[in-house]
Amino acid sequence: MTPARIFIARAIFPEVAQRLAQHCEVHQHSLGRPWAEGELVQHLQGMDGALTTGAERIDAALLAACPRLRIVANMAVGYNNFDVPAMTAAGVQGTNTPDVLTETTADFGFALLLAAARRMAEGERYLRAGHWKEWRYDLLAGAEVHGTRLGIIGMGRIGQAIARRAAHGFGMEVVYHNRSRLEPALEAACRARYVGKEELLRTADHVMLVLPYSSAVHHTIGAAELALMKTTATLVNIARGGIVDDAALAQALRAGRIAAAGLDVFEGEPAVHPDLLTVPNVVLTPHIASATVRTRLAMAQLAADNLIAFFEGRGPLTPVNTPLPRPPAE
Ligand code: GLV
Repeated sequence: MTPARIFIARAIFPEVAQRLAQHCEVHQHSLGRPWAEGELVQHLQGMDGALTTGAERIDAALLAACPRLRIVANMAVGYNNFDVPAMTAAGVQGTNTPDVLTETTADFGFALLLAAARRMAEGERYLRAGHWKEWRYDLLAGAEVHGTRLGIIGMGRIGQAIARRAAHGFGMEVVYHNRSRLEPALEAACRARYVGKEELLRTADHVMLVLPYSSAVHHTIGAAELALMKTTATLVNIARGGIVDDAALAQALRAGRIAAAGLDVFEGEPAVHPDLLTVPNVVLTPHIASATVRTRLAMAQLAADNLIAFFEGRGPLTPVNTPLPRPPAE
């Protein structure tokens, strides 16, 4: 049997690519920039599978142009880059990388919360610029984190891991909002209380966004929601760009309508709204919440395992859909 042909869309750990090459015919591309219009389709033509990141959009037009494609393995837990109904209808399996990144991503959410609320990035810029001349009682005085109320929007695995850190490690009162309420036992383990979104925004000292992106949650946080928040509050987004209206957030930060923000994801990333680049009270990071060496390696291995299992006829480990049968390619 001829080996499956797979396309690795972004550079990954060489050892993972080598392992895949023992099972499949591997094609790779090291792009270093976003895809130009129509470019990804060209690379996927003639491929049976692909290993992608959130930066590769898999939609109906691409699927129609790539009739051999059987599986797309995302190296990410989020898969809003997939048009899942189109993949299912086209008989294409989608997979993601849940669980392996949960705790690492929760750590980073907490790091961003602390960095933003405690003004760490501002402090570093101040020091490096040589402005530090004396001890001052109010120098870069920020907001308290321990013992305050954390509002989490999106209470999946990562939201729950953040809640545990907040409640058990920082003595915070945790409130959350989610599509559905957690089982009482899970709520108890997270020491988290379900509230409506408006109550969460009005009463939380800090708000953390951890919900998956879909068009239904586009601009969940815009000018109106920012206006509900406490003026001393911090907003952290480790979920997806587009959940926050970045222009409205930059305005709110500049006007002091909220105190600070920590953002790891952006609308239209890797582009960042220019106004965010000039407001001081926001900590900006380039979508690295899962980026420890161990976790990124585990994500790559899981994506590779999904491809290998699929082509060995064992079914993927972490599917996101149940595809309809796909007619065999010519
Ligand atoms: C990263 O954003 C992921 O979804 O894994």
